[in-house]
Amino acid sequence: ATRKLLLLPGDGIGPEAMAEVKKLIGMMNADFNAGFETEEGLVGGSAYDAHGQSISDADMAKALAADATLFGAVGGPKWDGVPYEVRPEAGLLRLRKEMELFANLRPAICYPALAASSSLKPDVVEGLDILIVRELTGGVYFGEPKEIIDLGNGQKRGIDTQVYDTFEIERISGVAFELARTRSNKVCSMEKHNVMKSGVLWKEVVAQTHKAKYSDVELTHMLADAGGMQLVRWPKQFDVIVTDNLFGDMLSDVAAMLTGSLGMLPSASLGAPDAKTGTRRALYEPVHGSAPDISGKGIANPIAMIASFAMCLRYSFNMVEEADRLEKAIAAVLDDGLRTRDIMSDGATEVGTGAMGDAVLAK
Ligand code: NAI
Ligand code: MG
Repeated sequence: ATRKLLLLPGDGIGPEAMAEVKKLIGMMNADFNAGFETEEGLVGGSAYDAHGQSISDADMAKALAADATLFGAVGGPKWDGVPYEVRPEAGLLRLRKEMELFANLRPAICYPALAASSSLKPDVVEGLDILIVRELTGGVYFGEPKEIIDLGNGQKRGIDTQVYDTFEIERISGVAFELARTRSNKVCSMEKHNVMKSGVLWKEVVAQTHKAKYSDVELTHMLADAGGMQLVRWPKQFDVIVTDNLFGDMLSDVAAMLTGSLGMLPSASLGAPDAKTGTRRALYEPVHGSAPDISGKGIANPIAMIASFAMCLRYSFNMVEEADRLEKAIAAVLDDGLRTRDIMSDGATEVGTGAMGDAVLAK
């Protein structure tokens, strides 16, 4: 089989982290006949420098044609002054919009070797493996009206509007239920139906979707504020959490910090299945940004990018065994005491970006 991958390394530490994934792809092609065909494109500041856009139409077309896209990171002080429409982040927003990526998957996994350095008690996070599914293209970040109006009496009014339609809730909850089936078969839906009409509809549609197609999955509902509390109190009660754009933004950042450094956190964004092939458009990226403070020094942690590639194997190519092996390799390298600077602890061995990537590859 050929598997078409577009690599968009981006700016700052993006290319440094992507280089470690390229090593893995090369090894999988050479030793396991994985059949990855990679193309590379420019995004963010590096694309702006090359052709004045944060992503070119040609690279956008490559993303739409690829089976999956791996994205590094964009941005940096060098491009602080560029026009708003072509700022580095605009490239990522264009990718999400044109690929119609409505489901954002943010796992929170606690590697045993790092449990002791969590801000929570080790027994609260040890063995943690949860997945937050955040709706990414609707809700209060996009609803109209969205404006600041002048009330004329020295007062202004800022307005954002939370809007959700049935189909948006159906499709995001469908993703959550399907993913739950491949895991521990539990979904917790979070909203605030006690104070929001969109929350009433959210809860209702999730329950209907469950009843119609996914009644084998265990479904619970929780108010999103209580959910935040429970995430910190006893996160292991959850398997998959499905929630809207705003609550998902916050809850996924809270969950992220249960497990440690930004340099460890992968993510995936998925679109609707293609009517003919059944495959989903997908983009995989670390949660972190371009880290200008450490870029060029060879000390960035490549694990978030490597773990994003593991998600790509799992969700875009159904290479479940390979994804498991890659995730186990990451855990094993950490067990051996290897650490990049951002996760360094007493008694561990500090290594750079390349050595960390090589160690994962060797495992
Ligand atoms: P950041 O995530 O780039 O860095 C925050 C802190 O975490 C820094 O101290 C950095 O050194 C550290 N860090 C991040 N990733 C790391 C890794 N893999 N290994 C070791 N340490 C790591 O966020 P920041 O500093 O707020 O933003 C820097 C630039 O990145 C800005 O231009 C921002 O707009 C952009 N950004 C881009 C994102 C993306 O491409 N998706 C996401 C977030 C920020
Ligand atoms: Mg956020």
